[in-house]
Amino acid sequence: MNPASVIAVANQKGGVGKTTTAVNLAACLAERGRRTLLIDLDPQANATSGLGLPKQPGASLYPSLIAGRPAGESVQTTAFKNLDIIPSEIDLAGTEVEIARMDDYLHRLRGVIGGLVRDGGYRYVIMDCSPSLGILTMNVLTAADSVVIPIQCEYYALEGLSVMTTLIDQLRTSGTNPGLVMEGILMTMYDMRTNLSQQVVQEVINHYGDKVYETLIPRNVRLGEAPSFGKPVIHYNTYCTGAAAYRQFTREFLERRNESERSTLELKPRDDVSAGLSFVPSSSPSVPAPAMEEAGHE
Ligand SMILES: Nc1ncnc2c1ncn2[C@@H]1O[C@H](COP(=O)(O)OP(=O)(O)OP(=O)(O)O)[C@@H](O)[C@H]1O
Ligand SMILES: [Mg+2]
Repeated sequence: MNPASVIAVANQKGGVGKTTTAVNLAACLAERGRRTLLIDLDPQANATSGLGLPKQPGASLYPSLIAGRPAGESVQTTAFKNLDIIPSEIDLAGTEVEIARMDDYLHRLRGVIGGLVRDGGYRYVIMDCSPSLGILTMNVLTAADSVVIPIQCEYYALEGLSVMTTLIDQLRTSGTNPGLVMEGILMTMYDMRTNLSQQVVQEVINHYGDKVYETLIPRNVRLGEAPSFGKPVIHYNTYCTGAAAYRQFTREFLERRNESERSTLELKPRDDVSAGLSFVPSSSPSVPAPAMEEAGHE
């Protein structure tokens, strides 16, 4: 079996939709038949509670990162088919200080998850990061094959983005992670009623071109509610615009990776409706396609 693809969901800015993207991308990949492992590497443990798991002392990768215990010991199943998790809890915050004193401190995570990536039977390993560029996040970026950067459709979006893209380049060119690539930029919390959202999307496209996913994730109340029920949005309200948007994003993610075959799951016709927003390609710059609202399903 091929090793898993390891995808970091990262942005040092807080509240931009990293956890929402990590949880829902992982859930949608699992729904499409890809065995997926979500690793929560944020001591806030939002991805952990977002999948309905408690924040349990000792349950995180902390013992592996500090004492080298096999990461496989920390894997837990979830209520969702094809989706496992390595949860987080507050102990993980301690790794920042402790790993810093170790030799080869940037490669600790890569070392401890190596066996799971090679032999764990997963197609994807998705890692959720904290909003910082501390040692834990640097470990994630050193362990990853590629990075999905969610950015919120708001005024300062581009500033944070250049920090991330520069860092990815530096990690690659310094030899710390020579294979690291930017998988793509996902625009989140898009508000079709505001010009600002459209302007921000266009500006990001002007700078980063086709690295920007065509799928836009709209602001959607259900996306905000789902974590408090411990569910990815597709299992919380399967027909809401948020669920459709993350399904559409996952399709695009797979297509861009030349993995566009349909899942073994038989999707009901309604599920295939592209209710996520998307912009029309460059021939009509700055004009996001009209939203296809799903009246009655919100
Ligand atoms: N598209 C959306 N529509 C509505 N609410 C959203 C959307 N995306 C995320 N949210 C909500 O916005 C808040 C921040 O999102 P999220 O936790 O995913 O961001 P984050 O980047 O992981 O934050 P942090 O930097 O603190 O880890 C959460 O309450 C989440 O439920
Ligand atoms: Mg988060």
